[in-house]
Amino acid sequence: MAKFVVSGGVPLCGVLDIQGAKNSVLPIMAAALLADGDCVIEHCPDISDTDCAIEILSELGAFVSQKRDVDGSRTVYINSSNALGFEIPDKMMRKMRSSVIFLGAILSRRGRALISFPGGCELGPRPIDLHISSLRKMGVRINETHGFLDCECERLHGTDIDLAFPSVGATENIMLAAALCDGETVINNAAKEPEIEDLQNFLNKMGARISGAGTGCIKINGVHRLNGVRHRVIPDRIAAGTYLCAVAATRGNALLKNAEPSHMSSTLAFLSDCGCDIKVFDKDISVSCDELHSVRHIRTMPYPGFPTDMQAVFMALMTKAKGNSVFIETIFENRFKHIGELHRMGANITTDGRVAVVEGVKKLYGAHVESTDLRGGASLIIAALAAEGTSIIDNIFHIDRGYDHIENALSALGAQITREQ
Ligand code: EPZ
Repeated sequence: MAKFVVSGGVPLCGVLDIQGAKNSVLPIMAAALLADGDCVIEHCPDISDTDCAIEILSELGAFVSQKRDVDGSRTVYINSSNALGFEIPDKMMRKMRSSVIFLGAILSRRGRALISFPGGCELGPRPIDLHISSLRKMGVRINETHGFLDCECERLHGTDIDLAFPSVGATENIMLAAALCDGETVINNAAKEPEIEDLQNFLNKMGARISGAGTGCIKINGVHRLNGVRHRVIPDRIAAGTYLCAVAATRGNALLKNAEPSHMSSTLAFLSDCGCDIKVFDKDISVSCDELHSVRHIRTMPYPGFPTDMQAVFMALMTKAKGNSVFIETIFENRFKHIGELHRMGANITTDGRVAVVEGVKKLYGAHVESTDLRGGASLIIAALAAEGTSIIDNIFHIDRGYDHIENALSALGAQITREQ
């Protein structure tokens, strides 16, 4: 199994381009199922979750090809005219639980869908009750049998939906199911993440009539046809936040280019609060850090609050900050698995349920650790970069799900990190 070998103690310095957003490209690839014609999606990150989405589209009968761009990202070409499939094989659902995002688009296109329950993942149970109840309100008959969702509908229809929680995936599934259905659908308490706005922009370019993304209320007026379009995916705000934390943890000095600072207000605020010198120049962000002190209280919240996806990464930064930090993970039930591995490197963290208290230590030490999930794995890399000595990080397939060749990005900033079999 591949692993990363990291030698810590080197300040990261230099310039880095930010990859396209994983959590934007996945729903946009699902939306391409709705197009009559070719969709060209630019700035796709070269990550395994994108590969998985391409596999699913091909399985459904879409024609998908891709080419690598000079900046290392990919342009993906999708033609769904022959995408008559309606079943996502269990092995694909297990490989990427967010494949549930294809459900709304498949139902809109075929009136039928058969998928297995995405099931839990490293972050704990990942229910989809909000997806199911919303689609049922739109006229979908859903039979939950033996771990499978057997769905069918003659005709989807618009309706008012009040989400009990601003679920990103449920908001996206409703938008995809409603774009081509009769009438108006209103989503109240919708997720406000930038990736939702990117999906709205993509669908509206195709001819959809959607408004309100980024606010708590999204209105979708169904249309009869959606056309293939070209679209560039927004920058990945979590990858950008990860690299900012890596530079800060090594007391480095770097410039991130082609980011989207306006999507990162809470992350940038916390980085400034803990002593980083953050400067924003249009789409670029510079970061330098001499002295790091703790942020007393970090609570993860739905956007625009502090992102749950930044929790593990920012915690790695706080392990060597002066003072204590209290993390409260309000979004996922079990998103502290990285803490046991950080302990192996000398971090001083105590947990109680969804609360973790980090007491800053003077030093971290290289160790042999295991990635537990995507962002937990990234937190181990940051800790290893800040540690004295060499670390080995196993199970890096988790990290490859969402970071586009992270070892190349970090090496470009001077990090001593190699991928070894
Ligand atoms: C998306 O997951 C992201 N994934 C996650 O990023 C991110 O952490 C999450 O949103 C929150 O921002 C993608 O976009 C592919 P949710 P999603 O539905 O859609 C509960 C990463 O690291 N819930 O907003 O699955 C759920 O259990 C990944 O890039 C229900 O109870 O998130 C969780 O506690 C990890 N019922 C909370 O809502 C439902 O029907 C947030 O879930 C759906 C969700």
